[in-house]
Amino acid sequence: MAVKHSLILLTVLVLALPGLIHSFQPTFSVDGTSITHRDITQRAVLRKTAEVCRDIAAAEGRDFSLNINARLSVNTVQRACSVTPTSNSPLSSDMFQNAMNRMFDSNAKVDFSLPLAGEYHFDNEAFQAGREIITRGMSAVKANVKAGSFIAARESLGQISHILQDFYSHSNWVELGKSIPYSALIRADQPLENLAGPDTPTCKSCAGQTCSDNILPEVLQKGLLTSGYFDIFSSDKPAGKCSHGGLFDLTSKTNPVGGINKDAVESGHGSYHQAAVDLAVDATSELLEDIRVAVGDKNFLRLLGFTQSSALCFVIDTTGSMGDDIESVKSLTAKIIDERRGTPLEPSEYILVPFNDPDFGPVTKTTDADLFKNMINSLIPHGGGDIPEMSMSGLQLALTSAPASSDIHLFTDAPAKDSELKSAVTALIETTKSTVTFWITNVFSSRRRRSSDSQASVSRISLSDTQLYRDLAQASGGQAIEVSKLEISSATIFIEDSSARAVVTVFQVAMNPGKPENFHFVVDASLSNMFIYITGDSSLTFNLTSSTGVSQISSESSGPLASATRVGNLWRISLNTENQTGSWKISVNANTPYTVKITGQSSVNFVYNLVDSEEGAHGGVSPKNGRPITDGNVTLLVTVTGSDTGTVTEVTLFDSSVPTEVNGTIQSLGNGNFLVRFNKVPGGSYVVRLRGEDPSSLSRSTPTSFQRQASTQIKTSRLSVSARSASIRLEPGSENSISFTVSSEVPGTFSVQTNNDRSFPSMSPSSLSIAAGDGGQANGTIILTVPAGTASGTDVSLTIDVKNADGTDINYAVLRFSVAAKETDLSAPVCQVVNVSGICPALTLLCASVQWEFIANFTDGINGTGIATITLRQGNGTLNTSTVVGEGGENVTVITYSSSCCSQTVQVAAVDRVGNVGMCTEQARALTTPAPTTPVTSPGPTTPVTTPNVTTGGNNTTSTGGHRLSTSQFLWLTAVIYLLWK
Ligand SMILES: *[C@@H]1O[C@H](CO)[C@@H](O)[C@H](O)[C@H]1NC(C)=O
Ligand SMILES: *[C@@H]1O[C@H](CO)[C@@H](O)[C@H](O)[C@H]1NC(C)=O
Ligand SMILES: *[C@@H]1O[C@H](CO)[C@@H](O)[C@H](O)[C@H]1NC(C)=O
Repeated sequence: MAVKHSLILLTVLVLALPGLIHSFQPTFSVDGTSITHRDITQRAVLRKTAEVCRDIAAAEGRDFSLNINARLSVNTVQRACSVTPTSNSPLSSDMFQNAMNRMFDSNAKVDFSLPLAGEYHFDNEAFQAGREIITRGMSAVKANVKAGSFIAARESLGQISHILQDFYSHSNWVELGKSIPYSALIRADQPLENLAGPDTPTCKSCAGQTCSDNILPEVLQKGLLTSGYFDIFSSDKPAGKCSHGGLFDLTSKTNPVGGINKDAVESGHGSYHQAAVDLAVDATSELLEDIRVAVGDKNFLRLLGFTQSSALCFVIDTTGSMGDDIESVKSLTAKIIDERRGTPLEPSEYILVPFNDPDFGPVTKTTDADLFKNMINSLIPHGGGDIPEMSMSGLQLALTSAPASSDIHLFTDAPAKDSELKSAVTALIETTKSTVTFWITNVFSSRRRRSSDSQASVSRISLSDTQLYRDLAQASGGQAIEVSKLEISSATIFIEDSSARAVVTVFQVAMNPGKPENFHFVVDASLSNMFIYITGDSSLTFNLTSSTGVSQISSESSGPLASATRVGNLWRISLNTENQTGSWKISVNANTPYTVKITGQSSVNFVYNLVDSEEGAHGGVSPKNGRPITDGNVTLLVTVTGSDTGTVTEVTLFDSSVPTEVNGTIQSLGNGNFLVRFNKVPGGSYVVRLRGEDPSSLSRSTPTSFQRQASTQIKTSRLSVSARSASIRLEPGSENSISFTVSSEVPGTFSVQTNNDRSFPSMSPSSLSIAAGDGGQANGTIILTVPAGTASGTDVSLTIDVKNADGTDINYAVLRFSVAAKETDLSAPVCQVVNVSGICPALTLLCASVQWEFIANFTDGINGTGIATITLRQGNGTLNTSTVVGEGGENVTVITYSSSCCSQTVQVAAVDRVGNVGMCTEQARALTTPAPTTPVTSPGPTTPVTTPNVTTGGNNTTSTGGHRLSTSQFLWLTAVIYLLWK
């Protein structure tokens, strides 16, 4: 009896689940003093980012004043790293915060989805297996970055950081007195030495409650490495071995009793908690450094979302009638590129997806402005006549290719042929939080028949056909702009506004049906360059009133408050807010549907994620996929960005269609993070509205309160979909099964649609039935085949959307995978020093007049993929390289470095084609010992690299067999853990 069996299992789990979290706490500290995985990751990321910025500044001869210490905040790093035109110009840290959040989430997910897989936590002495996941993950991250798949890279990076961090809590590395990280854990070619053998006892029983000396003295004397055993179902462990410890670890109840984990201050070895945290931060930094060297500084900062500008992203219908539209995109692109090239406003990347019928794509995704210009210029409108076009397929590709929270612009004059993708596209909009603006040309209303004079003015789309586009615009916080072909070039200035730096949404509403309404909004002192955009038909009028009581109406195109223009259905109102902070009002008079969006530039904003959290549990949040349950509780994790002192005073979920507004209760978690809970949220489509206080906004006369709104709608559903896969990395040529569960309290048959953005072959049931008595659940399996030959680093997004019979209720799960071939080249390039010549004088005064030289050979071996790049990491001299063939037929790169004695250390990195990093470090010979005085050099790109020198004959420790990834019997628990864990 499956049900009965599950019930028994569930009972066991209810008791046991809290103990499943046996890591550093994943997100926020439950006890308020322990340090979590999230804290550890953030510290390492901020430190490494600051170091990269410092080195870039030094290389460019700029000052860098930030003191790199443990108290860095996102804001201080963002400020110090940004090249700003003026000191008070707005800076956005939203993308940086979002990228970190992605890493925090996938880091935490290891605890929620793989709680009992020892190799993901360095439990059970699973050192080889844990190291293998880390190093394979590192290869995947490097391949992802190369392919521009940053989101997938962040996901892998978060996961392997978790494993690496757990090592310092779960092993006896700290107890062995180590003060630096164990570098072999991130190097597949180094031996793992001094592991306690399987039969070697490592612990003795603890006497009493507190116990910190239970590791056997001979283990410590011999420096043997061990880790704690952990199991919640069985007390079995090999004789004499240490346990993890804690209430639910059954192995710690049998001899030897007690545990050694350092997860929290109150853990068995909690007195070592801080030491474990410090090492975990250092180890994570070292991991990041390795990736940085492999991918280069620029890509590394992109990986961390560290960019000031957004992507420029166009999805363009290339049918014959689109000539005017394409011309206006060409000139707009040329203008943006020419004006912004080399400035901080230059788009972070360029994305283009053409579509037509039956073709769409391929996606062009590049940081090369000239390449992009060429791609746009080579778009030739062709074919057509037979409406409709593949606009949804094109948009789907853009949504999965663009960075999260991008502004995507879609140009078309035809309805969508592939409208069945609407729910998949909506799912992607909701998960990526990207905004989609539709540019629809030559719409005819039903009264005005399509004209048929010249080809260019033929209308191919009716007002009713645009509903899909308007729905998607609204779901994403974008707009559906309808203009004539003649007007489009004057309307696209909107795209320049929205791609400016640090654009935030202050207020937004969609009124359907339209009726006259007054809207109030707060202009705070941090806002500049404010715009109001209104879409609506030609009968719409408005009246704007400022905080000081000045007003201006829509018939005044230029007045005291604004200059307003109207093109097609779009009003663009540029506000003059000087000396008029406070509450403004706009009264809109219209009886047809309309939208209002108010934006400005400001550093202060917020980012949020839907999470699952248990009432009262301080740290118990886990990332949530898909839509929240209708009439259930909704929890948001909100982070105020751009202010170290900003607080949240009010958060509401607002649905304009009813209208209804649900108030959240706010709990501060520290460092600008807030947990906001909404009880019993009725069915609807909501936007998140936030009010806060920013005491740091120094302004003479103004209140410090601010108002912001999130663009993406949150919809509720009575269905839920959860999906799980054994791994987030898939091999080329593999068939992967992904199981998913649909839950619904109402029985019925539910249609299932699965979709992936790479058009990989997949098989899935087209529907699932839940009968009364099925416990409200049904399971399905999707087989996703990754074609052989798919390049490593490719990412693939799989969307599973499920609808009820009448299509009124939809929920979905989106999974992102990266394709990673099993690398055969796991060895880093090896350095062999050939010669060091020249002797440096003892007196610093004389350093400039004496040269020293260093010669070494780097090789990736006969079986390696070969050296791709050689870079000087440290040293101010000149580096030359040449290639020769070695004795065994392998390619050898000879590096010759010469420098004045004012710079006496050299470090050179060699990166092979799959991203393995080898280092060579050398010191000049000095005339006297002790060592030379501090070199008086201008600051060069100096990096405190902790990666050890490469030794010759790197030991290849590749173990056989794949990852033991699947603890499938526990995977289904993911969904319930958060409910039960505290
Ligand atoms: C616009 O609004 C202001 C303030 O609410 C009001 O005083 C003014 O009369 C309005 N103007 C028009 C033309 O309705
Ligand atoms: C705003 O206030 C400042 C200082 O009081 C003043 O110098 C400036 O002229 C004012 N600007 C406007 C548009 O009134
Ligand atoms: C929602 O929250 C309320 C109070 O905060 C709590 O009593 C209730 O059990 C929660 N409901 C669910 C389904 O978690």
